[in-house]
Amino acid sequence: MQISNHTFLVSGGSSGLGGACVQRLLNHGASVIVADLVPPPQHLADQYGARLFFQRTDVTSEADVRSVIATGEPQTGPLRGAVICAGVVHAERVLGRDGAASLDAFRRIIDINLNGTFNVVRLAADAIAQHEPLEDGERGVLVMTASVAAYDGQIGQAAYSASKGGIVAMVLPLARELARYGIRINAIAPGVFETPMVQSMPEKLRLSLIEQVPFPSRLGSPDEFAALTEQILTNRMLNGTVIRLDAAIRMS
Ligand SMILES: NC(=O)c1ccc[n+]([C@@H]2O[C@H](COP(=O)([O-])OP(=O)(O)OC[C@H]3O[C@@H](n4cnc5c(N)ncnc54)[C@H](O)[C@@H]3O)[C@@H](O)[C@H]2O)c1
Repeated sequence: MQISNHTFLVSGGSSGLGGACVQRLLNHGASVIVADLVPPPQHLADQYGARLFFQRTDVTSEADVRSVIATGEPQTGPLRGAVICAGVVHAERVLGRDGAASLDAFRRIIDINLNGTFNVVRLAADAIAQHEPLEDGERGVLVMTASVAAYDGQIGQAAYSASKGGIVAMVLPLARELARYGIRINAIAPGVFETPMVQSMPEKLRLSLIEQVPFPSRLGSPDEFAALTEQILTNRMLNGTVIRLDAAIRMS
């Protein structure tokens, strides 16, 4: 899918990995619908004007996601893809000092990270499927954000790993089903990236994660994530797969 002059929705596009994707898409001449709880930085709205559309969106809400697409498309043009980054992190032992882990917390993580991702996938796919096919019969492309925690989650990550494992598991059935509409779908499983989510972790945990990265032994930059997203959007042979972007980290 060509990026310039096309419209992409980015959930979680006001911060971190999603924010870098928004910046890259705008730089490359796309229009972007940001679906996030908070607005993107004001300087982007000033710089890109009508090419950037924001409406406060909770990805777990059917009404919110329907509305951001229905209201955004008339301003930005027909939706050709979505980059789904909205997510939250949570750490809690199953058997902690205060007893068994909170079931409500587990449900909340699954609701935002997994159900929220599926909600955006299904409604973005529904919008994209209405539009005319382009080269190769392609109508659109979706990129979901999993995590290496889907494969090697640490102690305390049962909820987070389950939410990301669910994303990994649904890539192939979604790709198979959406193929008849000319829609591709892939996921990226990032290692550890320098975003507000990771900056909010305790210093000790952050340093221990960096130490576990073989090469380059540092946090990834959000633009490195955005660069892979761009490749997935533009390379039509990428479909139905999960790509680890992790500098070889295998979390202990
Ligand atoms: N940073 C990392 O190292 C890393 C590693 C692996 C996976 N991830 C995943 O990447 C994604 C982006 O993470 P990030 O590091 O950029 O985090 P971040 O906290 O910087 O950004 C997350 C964004 O999602 C938004 N958001 C949260 N809940 C939402 C909801 N219910 N509805 C709409 N928007 C919501 C937040 O407002 C925020 O703008 C997440 O899914 C995260 O699990 C991040």
